[in-house]
Amino acid sequence: MRIPIIAGNWKMNKTPNEASEFASALLRELSNEEGVEIALCPAYPALLAVNSVIAGSRIKLGAQDVHWEHSGAYTGEVSVSMLKDSGCSYVIIGHSERRQYFGETNESVNKKLKAALKGGLFPIMCVGETPAQRKDNKTFDVVKDHIDAGLAGIREQDMEKIVIAYEPVWAIGTGVNATPDEAQEVHRYIRELLTKSYGDKIAQSIRIQYGGSVKPDNVKGLMSQPDIDGALVGGASLDVKSFAEIVRGAKK
Ligand code: PGA
Repeated sequence: MRIPIIAGNWKMNKTPNEASEFASALLRELSNEEGVEIALCPAYPALLAVNSVIAGSRIKLGAQDVHWEHSGAYTGEVSVSMLKDSGCSYVIIGHSERRQYFGETNESVNKKLKAALKGGLFPIMCVGETPAQRKDNKTFDVVKDHIDAGLAGIREQDMEKIVIAYEPVWAIGTGVNATPDEAQEVHRYIRELLTKSYGDKIAQSIRIQYGGSVKPDNVKGLMSQPDIDGALVGGASLDVKSFAEIVRGAKK
């Protein structure tokens, strides 16, 4: 059985102080929640502050990006070992904002994924089509391209460590979420692709999150779909009450 995973992608929000206050409040709010895995993904400067609050609790820490090299002259970049040493278990890779604004490609996603797996971080790999691609009926082609190229050369035994996040770009930060049926259609397709490449057992074990305007009032409908195993939450993860409600709503 796949345990649902709710991850909060804070993007470029919350200072270290704000982040640690949030983490303390969330811990109080969610101390008794079982059956859902929870991760917080603050900006780099807030990782240590959040880690010192949640270390040893059931809330995991994640980063929003990583570089594939171990160390060296890469000004502005952060390595897998730095994230591990800061307490991270997860790392988001290939978010559409990285693809759109910072030149992320399938090739860099693939390199980052391999580096994360080698260094013991669990990757959350984001895939999804833009509004123009959806309008042109290219959703499945784009998702296939992101999945095939992103996962190229990943060994079977590593696949269970990967979480995939389907995030239609037209739904991110817009308040227009994909309907449960629209999301399920693509999630099912992603699981079919995984089945073809890795077989049924592995494909059935991989968690596929939905992301894009997930809110307390739509999470239950999304989670009722058979191939939706959690959510990557942006805006609604910035408020303790709404994030906690989403976590509670994600229980299958
Ligand atoms: P949103 O962002 O929940 O604000 O739409 C989701 C994401 O970008 O991961």
